[in-house]
Amino acid sequence: MKFSLFALEEWFDRYEFKVDYMLGSSSCAGMTVEELFDLTGESVDFHHTMLTAPPVLGDPDLLESISTWYQNTEQDEIHVTCSSTEAIFLLTHSLLKPGDSVVAMFPMYPSLYQAAEDLGAEIRRWYLRHENNFQPDFDELVSLVDDSTRLIILNNPHNPTGQTLDEKELKKVISIASHVGAKVWCDEVFRGIIVNGNSLTPSIRDVDGETIVTGGMSKVFGLSGLRIGWIAAPKDILDSLRHIRYFTTVCAPVIEQKLAAIAHRHRDKVLARNQAIVDHNFPVLEEWIQNQDGVFDWVKPVGGPITFPRFIHEVNTNELCRVLAEEYSVLIPPGKYTFDSEGFIRIGYGLADGFEEGLEIVSSVIQSY
Ligand SMILES: Cc1ncc(COP(=O)(O)O)c(C=O)c1O
Repeated sequence: MKFSLFALEEWFDRYEFKVDYMLGSSSCAGMTVEELFDLTGESVDFHHTMLTAPPVLGDPDLLESISTWYQNTEQDEIHVTCSSTEAIFLLTHSLLKPGDSVVAMFPMYPSLYQAAEDLGAEIRRWYLRHENNFQPDFDELVSLVDDSTRLIILNNPHNPTGQTLDEKELKKVISIASHVGAKVWCDEVFRGIIVNGNSLTPSIRDVDGETIVTGGMSKVFGLSGLRIGWIAAPKDILDSLRHIRYFTTVCAPVIEQKLAAIAHRHRDKVLARNQAIVDHNFPVLEEWIQNQDGVFDWVKPVGGPITFPRFIHEVNTNELCRVLAEEYSVLIPPGKYTFDSEGFIRIGYGLADGFEEGLEIVSSVIQSY
């Protein structure tokens, strides 16, 4: 099996630790261990933590606390992984074989379909079109599925557009999938943060217990350094991927799982902290886009800390974003290179530092570009 270039991650790898202004992150603001302890009122007794491997499926405390984020998901329907990236890898390799067809929202976080493509599956793109305000077209979804379709892959809230599917729309996808015997997998790493007072996105697990969800600590929790993710799915699906786990990481690290369990037990506080940062940054972004006067055609996001504005006039986004990173120390992922969507850039508004200053720099570069 070959691994194709994962351009979005490559872009971050190239610039992330060199720039002063991070305007492209899809994560909320990180915190120290001390901040986590202060915010939640709990701590880990590091000195007495036994550094032996925890169970393959996950630390029971963490499984318990994750399961409470869903209405109908039991602890034994959750499998803790080393990041949601590992969760995506495990699901792809356990659910698919070469020749299967997969319908995936497009654009979307690349590994969600690229891992399947690398495996030899046929990817059918379910486009979220800007001219349609990034809204899903269900007639098109019907035309994309057939008897060879094993999976429909969703991301809700959606990276990079920040759009969401509500319960009615999730039900439609589930119904279309069931007609051809396909499973539905929804990546929900952005569930928990909303924009502009919109309502919280439902979990597809709460709509239908046969569906598969991936989640993780990196995005709305702002704890990307923990590298903890999970899969919530029917038990038979978890059983089928377990043997692949023996070849990847076997189990997730012990201290990180304890920290993740604390964050999950106090989800309300952690998410409220990150929502407050988004609530501060989002009006700044709105005003900034308005002030650009005719530069962007913007479909406002609904959930998560990211958005995907489109330039009205033709712009080579790879070149613009390269100049921003290399000459002005601002990281923004270009739509073309990272999401195969020319004319767009992805802006992340979940970080606490330097958002306004970074945007000012982008304005000055855009004007002279
Ligand atoms: C939709 C989506 N899923 C999964 C991931 C991977 O996150 P991690 O591996 O840090 O848990 C990302 C990262 O940007 C993402 O956007």
